[in-house]
Amino acid sequence: MNKKISVIGAGNVGATTAQRLFDKNYSEIALIDIAEGIAEGKALDILQSGPILGLDNYISGSSDYNITKNSDIVVITSGIARKPGMSRDDLLKINMNIVSEVTQKSLEKSPDALILVVTNPLDAMAMQAYKVSGKKPNEVFGMAGVLDSARFTTFISQSENTSVNSISSNVLGGHGDTMVPLLNNSYIGGKSLSESINKETLDQLVERTKNGGAEIVNYLKTGSAFYAPSASIVKMVDAISTNSKIILPTTAYLQGEYGIKNLYFGVPAKLGSNGIEEIIEYDLSEYEREELKKSAEAVNETVKVMKNL
Ligand code: APR
Repeated sequence: MNKKISVIGAGNVGATTAQRLFDKNYSEIALIDIAEGIAEGKALDILQSGPILGLDNYISGSSDYNITKNSDIVVITSGIARKPGMSRDDLLKINMNIVSEVTQKSLEKSPDALILVVTNPLDAMAMQAYKVSGKKPNEVFGMAGVLDSARFTTFISQSENTSVNSISSNVLGGHGDTMVPLLNNSYIGGKSLSESINKETLDQLVERTKNGGAEIVNYLKTGSAFYAPSASIVKMVDAISTNSKIILPTTAYLQGEYGIKNLYFGVPAKLGSNGIEEIIEYDLSEYEREELKKSAEAVNETVKVMKNL
């Protein structure tokens, strides 16, 4: 793939993303981390898998943004996890500053790059990157819905003993407890979930999806999910790099769609070489509309807190 991708943050999500991109034949990848040596070491390790895989791709790592020059897409995974004694607002402030700094530094080297934000809290961080970037709304977006929908699909597949390939699920809204797994606009074998699965089972699947991230954190004890998140990032990067026009749940800047204004929020979006090429509006049930509204209020609260920090 003849596109240059920079991944900022060489932690679990960033490094796994870089590895997946390398394995998928992206010819030029730059990995950045503030911690001296981390990005260099991981990039060199990935590069040395080239001869084994028969791939001549190039990946480099550094704390110096010069290696990111002329990137087509910048993926932001840098941030810190909440530590004992740290309030949510403290974390918000730290990650907000990190996202601002890395967005600015990346754009100095690649003014035309599209920005894909992954750092949590996702919707608020996408808003922050958009604000400091000075870019158009279609050029800055976030990854959440692809992951949340993949989790929903996994649980439906296990429950209904059906291939993941026969399930198409959609999780919209904010990336957190208020996310909205759609039941009328998600399908198993072409039939909507609400038609195919009984309510009690569906409620359990929805609940498990909403807690999908926490379930993994509870197992890992330190750190959070990174295999499915990195696969989700690469799916979005692929869509843009190949100008595929695939419709994926994407955290996008809304300007009235779904009745929501001036907020980053998870909605179906067509992705292509310009980033977000179209936001798709589904017919939602009254219940889904209400749930989306609640989710938007929750995201708005975080954005408000961020403004006052
Ligand atoms: N510039 C560059 N890198 C930074 C900066 C900065 N200013 N601040 C922190 N980092 C780096 C850290 O040094 C670390 O290597 O970001 C990396 C984050 O990695 P992890 O702690 O392993 O976190 P990870 O699991 O990769 O998650 C990253 O993605 O899914 C979200 O919630 C998750 O917000 C988190 C992000």
